[in-house]
Amino acid sequence: MRRKLAAGNWKMNGLRADLAEIEAISAAMGLSPDPAARAEVLLCPPSTLLMNAADIAQGRIAIGGQNCHRLPFGPHTGDISGPMLIDAGASHVILGHSERRMDHRETDAKVREKALYAHSIGLVTVICLGETAEDHDLGQTVRIVGRHLQHSLPEDATAANTVVAYEPIWAIGSGKTPTPAQIAEVHGFMRTQLIERFGAEGEGMRLLYGGSVKPGNAAEIFAVPEVDGALVGGASLTARDFLPIVEALE
Ligand code: G3P
Repeated sequence: MRRKLAAGNWKMNGLRADLAEIEAISAAMGLSPDPAARAEVLLCPPSTLLMNAADIAQGRIAIGGQNCHRLPFGPHTGDISGPMLIDAGASHVILGHSERRMDHRETDAKVREKALYAHSIGLVTVICLGETAEDHDLGQTVRIVGRHLQHSLPEDATAANTVVAYEPIWAIGSGKTPTPAQIAEVHGFMRTQLIERFGAEGEGMRLLYGGSVKPGNAAEIFAVPEVDGALVGGASLTARDFLPIVEALE
């Protein structure tokens, strides 16, 4: 049984005042008499808030970074490393988000290298992949997703250290989402590929959908086979929007 996961990616949003939202989300999760029976919740705030977020969360929810370098330290101005994330209290890291692939020219090979290093120090990776609007319109979705999956996921990926997030680029922040049938096709394809490559570990890896998940469409998306949760952007910024999404998963 794969435990459901509701993950929030704050991207380049969040000031100290917004830590109140992390407190509210953590408090709601901490109320459960049997937290393990609930969906797992992960929030990935910007690096500046990581330490405060982890202090506030106190293990009631997991805290993650949004990127890390493939090396532990060195002359890489502006970068953040895996050990720094762990030191700040993070247990997870998002890698290969399309915004980083575009803004920082991150390739599948780079994402794979970063994931290998992150795994080696005990971070759980949330590896993102997905097609552009153009590829979608050309009917290339499965081909693109297959390529990302094959080259971004490292050979040491397991059910415990890797989560895969399918995020069609055209659905991110646009209010558009694929139909449930389209999501089912991609997630079913990913599951088959993962089992072929990783066997039982591939069966156990969680597959998240990301792209304009909101309180109003979460239940429909979560009803799709092979969707084990969501990677949520805008709607993870407030407890008001994010908590109903977590509830829809349970
Ligand atoms: O990583 C989450 C993401 O890219 C989706 O963003 O704002 O469409 O939920 P959003």
